[in-house]
Amino acid sequence: MKTNLKLMLVAGARPNFMKIAPLISAIKKFNNSTTRNEGKSRVARAQALNEIDQINEIDQKDPINPINYLLVHTGQHYDMAMSETFFHELELPKPDINLEVGSASHAVQTANIMMRFEEVCLKEKPDWVMVVGDVNSTMACSLVAAKLGIKVGHVEAGLRSFDRTMPEEINRLVTDALSDLLFTPSEDADQNLLREGIPAIKIKRVGNIMIDALIAHLERARQGRPYNRFELREKNYVFVTLHRPSNVDDEGPIFRIMDCLIRLSKKLPVIFPVHPRTRKNFIQFGVLEKLNSHKDLMLSEPLGYHDTIGLVDKARFVLTDSGGLQEETTFLKIPCLTLRPNTERPITIKLGTSKLTSLETLDNDIENVLNGYSRIGQIPELWDGKTGERIIEILSEQANN
Ligand code: UD1
Repeated sequence: MKTNLKLMLVAGARPNFMKIAPLISAIKKFNNSTTRNEGKSRVARAQALNEIDQINEIDQKDPINPINYLLVHTGQHYDMAMSETFFHELELPKPDINLEVGSASHAVQTANIMMRFEEVCLKEKPDWVMVVGDVNSTMACSLVAAKLGIKVGHVEAGLRSFDRTMPEEINRLVTDALSDLLFTPSEDADQNLLREGIPAIKIKRVGNIMIDALIAHLERARQGRPYNRFELREKNYVFVTLHRPSNVDDEGPIFRIMDCLIRLSKKLPVIFPVHPRTRKNFIQFGVLEKLNSHKDLMLSEPLGYHDTIGLVDKARFVLTDSGGLQEETTFLKIPCLTLRPNTERPITIKLGTSKLTSLETLDNDIENVLNGYSRIGQIPELWDGKTGERIIEILSEQANN
C-alpha cells in the first residue's frame, strides 16, 4: 500500500452531486480493499463501531487510508430541493467545508468561490482538486488550484457545444485548459481535447460518471413509482425540464414555450418540475398562472434524484434542455427531444435516443415520437457503472509512479 493521497472533491450545483457520489463510493471501495489486503479490515472496524457518523468519519479521515478526501460544497446551489435532498438520497457525507457563496452574477459568484476556495486550499494543501461537470464552481475551483500549483483532475472533460454563448462552454474550455488529468466520457471528448493541443498522456477515457450513479440508484428509483403520486400512467406522460438561459431568460422564448407546452398537454399529460431560474422568469413574465390553469400541465417544485429518474424511466418521452437528461434517457432508452440548437454530448444523438429540436420543429418532432419514429439507441462504451473506480485507480497509479 503505497498510495498516500489527499483529494479535495468539489461540488457546487445540482448536476455535480450525482457525479461526486460515485467518486466517494470508489474511494471507499479502494480504501477498503487495499487495507483489507493488508489484514486491517476497515469494514469490520466500522461494523464494530456500529455508529453511522463514526463510520463516515473513519471512512474519510482514517490515517491508514491510502486515499483521504475532503468534500467542499461551494454553495452555488443552496435550496433544500436543489442540494440537501440530493445529499440525502445519494448518501453523500455532510460537506467538510461549505463556502456558502449563493447566487450572484457570473463574475461575482466566480470571484466569491475563488476567494473562499483559495483559503481552504492554502489550509488543507490537497494533492489533487477534483472538479466535475461544467458549472461556475467547476471553473472557479480549478483556476484557484492551478494557480496554487495543486493538481487538477476534471471529470467529464472534453465536452464541447462549440457555442460560447453558453456559460458552461466557457467553463469547460477554461477547466480543461488548466487540468492535469482530463477524465473523458467518450471518444468525441478525446478528439476535442487533442484538437485543442492537450497532450494525449493527460487524457483518460474512463466513461460516464453520472451513469455510475444512475445504475446504483435505478432500482430504488423504480420502487418509488413516483408517477402514481402525480396520477400518471406508465408510458402515458411527458417529462419536461427547461432551465437554460437561452430558453427561459427572455420574454420571446418564454411565451412560445408556454404555447408549446399547452398544446403538448392536450396530447399527453405533462409533468414539469420547475427550476428556480425558470420559476422566477415565469413569474416575472406573468405566465405562471396561465400555465397552472391547464390541468394536464402539472408544474411541480424541483424533484429529487429518485423521483426524477423514476419519472424519466416510465415517460413516453422527455422534453428538456438539460445536459444530464440527454445521457440518462440514452441509458434508459427513452426518447428525448432536446430543445437546443446544439449539444456538447453528440454521442446521445449519434448513438442514443436524443434529438435536437427547436420551437419551430417541436410540434412535428412530438408527432413523430408519438407515432413511434424514435430510435431505441445504443448505450455508449464504458457507460457501465465503473467510471468512478477507473478514475480512482488512475489517481492511485499516478501517486505510486
Ligand atoms: C447552474 C449551472 C448550469 C446547470 C444548472 C443546473 C452555471 C453557469 N450554470 O445553472 O450549468 O445546468 O445549474 O441546475 O454554473 N436559485 C435558487 N436556488 C438555488 C440555486 C439557484 O433559487 O438553490 C436561483 C437563483 O435565483 C439564481 C438562479 O436560480 O440566480 C440561477 O442559479 P445559478 O446557479 O446561477 O444558475 P443555474 O441556472 O441554476
